[in-house]
Amino acid sequence: MNDSNTKETVSITINSTGETIELPILDGTQGPQVIDVRQLYSKTGMFTYDPSYTSTASCDSSMTYIDGEEGILRHAGYTIEELTEKSSFLEVCYLLLHGELPNLSEMQDFERTITNHTMVHDQLQFLYRGFRRDAHPMAVMIGVVGAMSAFYHDSTDISNPQQRLIASHRLIAKMPTMAAMAYKYSIGQPFVYPRNELSYAENFLHMTFGVPAEEYSCSPVISRALDRIFILHADHEQNASTSTVRLAGSSGANPFACIAAGIATLWGPAHGGANEAVLEMLSEIGSKERIPEFLEKAKNKDDPFRLMGFGHRVYKNYDPRAGVLKPAAYEVLEEVGIQNPLMELALELERLALEDDYFVERKLFPNVDFYSGIILSAIGFPTSMFTVLFTLARAVGWIAQWKEMIEDPGQRIGRPRQLYLGHAERKFVPIDERN
Ligand code: ACO
Repeated sequence: MNDSNTKETVSITINSTGETIELPILDGTQGPQVIDVRQLYSKTGMFTYDPSYTSTASCDSSMTYIDGEEGILRHAGYTIEELTEKSSFLEVCYLLLHGELPNLSEMQDFERTITNHTMVHDQLQFLYRGFRRDAHPMAVMIGVVGAMSAFYHDSTDISNPQQRLIASHRLIAKMPTMAAMAYKYSIGQPFVYPRNELSYAENFLHMTFGVPAEEYSCSPVISRALDRIFILHADHEQNASTSTVRLAGSSGANPFACIAAGIATLWGPAHGGANEAVLEMLSEIGSKERIPEFLEKAKNKDDPFRLMGFGHRVYKNYDPRAGVLKPAAYEVLEEVGIQNPLMELALELERLALEDDYFVERKLFPNVDFYSGIILSAIGFPTSMFTVLFTLARAVGWIAQWKEMIEDPGQRIGRPRQLYLGHAERKFVPIDERN
């Protein structure tokens, strides 16, 4: 971080002592300014308190920019709408890793490199076979991705730039293979090897839905929709899973272990597990007549039910990713010829929620998960695979953010502090003397 961009300061006065200190204000290229509190503790003996990071910038980054009020998402300056229309997932991977779009020969090299890494170590299949067949594929993914550090020793030296790049390529290339293997294992079908002449999305569909007994082919509408879903999920600034990857990586842990930590975080229903929850919720609602009842439940503070796929910590406007996915959902449903009652239900739910003061006042709009589940289910993925697909796409964001952090010369281990509310020192009482 270059401290020379400091122009303004903020003064903090401690009322009890009258002491005033000045803290620098830093400017990003866009977005809110930040108060640099790094000297606060040494100057005052006080910490800041922001347990769920609602007012905290945990790092600086040049990768992804979000304006939550306006509903804007850009990677290295390119809008998500333009990237999903004109680019491909692999090109976006290059953009996130290198900060610039590739020229033609760079793109060809990159595609060749990723293609060369799509197979996984043969021994890895035995790891899958150790899991129960009914294990959730996310549980399997945490295990097998973490285990990559036991297989690819030649890309775990984080101080070596070449090894960092190879680890990034391996993750991007092998993630679809590993995700498809998790699915095949759960349904008792043989693993299907990657086919390197296929595009990234086509290859994943081939490994997921293909069988050794016959050729698999899919419509370009489906593979394009999947590619767009991958682009939309590729990176999203300092969300919970990315922050987890950065924190794990700050200790010097190897990249595969860090990504496994990210997968664990993404699994939660408040994060990547939400699209699975959206479909479950729509099925539970069942018919348009019951929507008002569920809206009331969502508004009732004594009821833990929340409208899944609605609301976002950062977006206080329509999530731009949901804006791309809504028309994509129509395209896919038309292609597969499904009259999906859940889509009708989702549209009506969205309409009624956006007319309701509760949701309007709190700026709760549909997020990316609201429509992605409908598309994935129309393609044929079971709900248990939804978060796995998110994992596959987000792996590039995680590894690119990890790389950005490791390559920052000022990087140190992340170590938050706390507001302690427990006991002061007290004497230990032997067990036979306790009440
Ligand atoms: N349904 C009903 N009420 C909601 C919802 C919802 N989905 N989301 C937020 N609210 C309400 C809260 O109850 C709170 O109301 P209050 O001010 O009267 O107490 C207010 O809106 C603010 O909510 P917070 O929980 O403070 O918002 P936060 O930023 O912490 O949560 C989150 C964001 C977790 C995404 C939340 O909106 C939620 O649980 N949504 C449903 C789950 C979901 O769709 N997650 C996917 C997120 S996108 C992603 O990870 C890819």
